[in-house]
Amino acid sequence: MDLVIMNGHLVYANRTIKADVGIEKGLIKAIGKLNNAQAVERIDAKGKFVFPGIIDVHNHINHIGGENKTKDDFFMGTRSAAFGGVTTLLDFAMQKRNETVLTAIKRRRSEADGKACIDYGLHGNITHLDKESLESIPKIIEKGYSSFKLFMTYRKAGFIVEDPILYEVMQTVYNNNGIVGIHAENDTICEYLTDKYVSAGMISPKYHARSRPNIAEAECISRAILFAEHTGSALYVFHLTTHEGVKLVRDAKRRGVKVYAETCPHYLTLTEEVYDRNDAQNFIMTPPLRKTEDVEALWEGIQDNTISIVSSDHCCYDTVQKKIRSGQSFRDITPGIPGNETLLPIMYHYGVNSKRITINKMIELLSLNPARLFGMQQRKGSLIPGADADLVIFDPDKKVVLDSNEIHMATDYTPYAGMALTGYPVKTIFKGEVIVSDGVFRGKEGAGRFLAREKPDFF
Ligand code: URP
Ligand code: ZN
Repeated sequence: MDLVIMNGHLVYANRTIKADVGIEKGLIKAIGKLNNAQAVERIDAKGKFVFPGIIDVHNHINHIGGENKTKDDFFMGTRSAAFGGVTTLLDFAMQKRNETVLTAIKRRRSEADGKACIDYGLHGNITHLDKESLESIPKIIEKGYSSFKLFMTYRKAGFIVEDPILYEVMQTVYNNNGIVGIHAENDTICEYLTDKYVSAGMISPKYHARSRPNIAEAECISRAILFAEHTGSALYVFHLTTHEGVKLVRDAKRRGVKVYAETCPHYLTLTEEVYDRNDAQNFIMTPPLRKTEDVEALWEGIQDNTISIVSSDHCCYDTVQKKIRSGQSFRDITPGIPGNETLLPIMYHYGVNSKRITINKMIELLSLNPARLFGMQQRKGSLIPGADADLVIFDPDKKVVLDSNEIHMATDYTPYAGMALTGYPVKTIFKGEVIVSDGVFRGKEGAGRFLAREKPDFF
């Protein structure tokens, strides 16, 4: 074998076992007692956990938002993810005004191919629907893009899709066994409140949260669930943040609607109180951070399987780009925060160490469910023979205080600076190669491949 990882505790969604992992030609070849197996290299993982590679299904790399472009390209954005134990990520092919979905896909492939150092896939991100794009959806799904995202907000930026388009896309995607995702914020409510606050001179970041209230999210989720129920389409709620939203998703699931939700580490660990800080602008993302009762409801939603996935929504601007300049208000700050490197350690510390979830549940949220729902289960998401040898060796005792100077994301800040975490990834193995070892990157630009995804395995 090329590599054997010895003595680790292998974590699955439904069990943890003590075993060795044998790797050959980039695949997991054997699991069991392998001390007598021939091996070119051995790594001792005694006292450590071995996880399947983390799959972060929500990234915005090389992304243009307002006047800003994120600081990372597909090499830097996948490299920072690898430091956090991520071995596969999904990003978006977002249609520009003059593009079809297929053109957007081609453009994003050309940005990522030859650059990504871990595997990546793309959600189709529909911002308008010409006849050609609608007719191309079955072909797009067949080619490995089985999921879509539609914005129910951002009218001013030209990204919003109106109800008939959402409805039409759901029908077509349903007929072709894909899944439709939404960014759920009612644009009319958000724009009305934003105008109201800004015109009254209430321009500081704390009004960002007030201008995008819980009801804006709840209304869109409610509407999209109704459409999903009527069309039969599977629905994915990107970055769920509110207790009202959790209840809507939970109730719909109980009625048998095929609805799935993700949330993100920031909504599980931070509240709108940060908008009173001097660096509040660095915490502006949409939807905004919420109240403690929402944070608690999200954890409950995770515990009772209402929420299936946790992703980073990584969007890597730096503090210069986030600055509010004179004469500007909260509405002028480009939304989005960096986070693909910190997804796993934050979930381990605030989820597993805090006893909100088991370590097995964490792997379900960060690896198994992403692989199943987004059509990667043949190759990713679990430590089984025949799967890609994507693994994380995780030291549960390693203590790290998150520090803006020591992160590898292409930015000068992390929203979690100062957080003291116990438990951190120490090695990331991608297709049998150690690409991060004790804080040193050993991977290769371009070694990651585009992942043509299968249809979702609905659970
Ligand atoms: O604020 C966020 N989440 N920025 C990224 C783009 C989006 O809305 O998903
Ligand atoms: Zn979004």
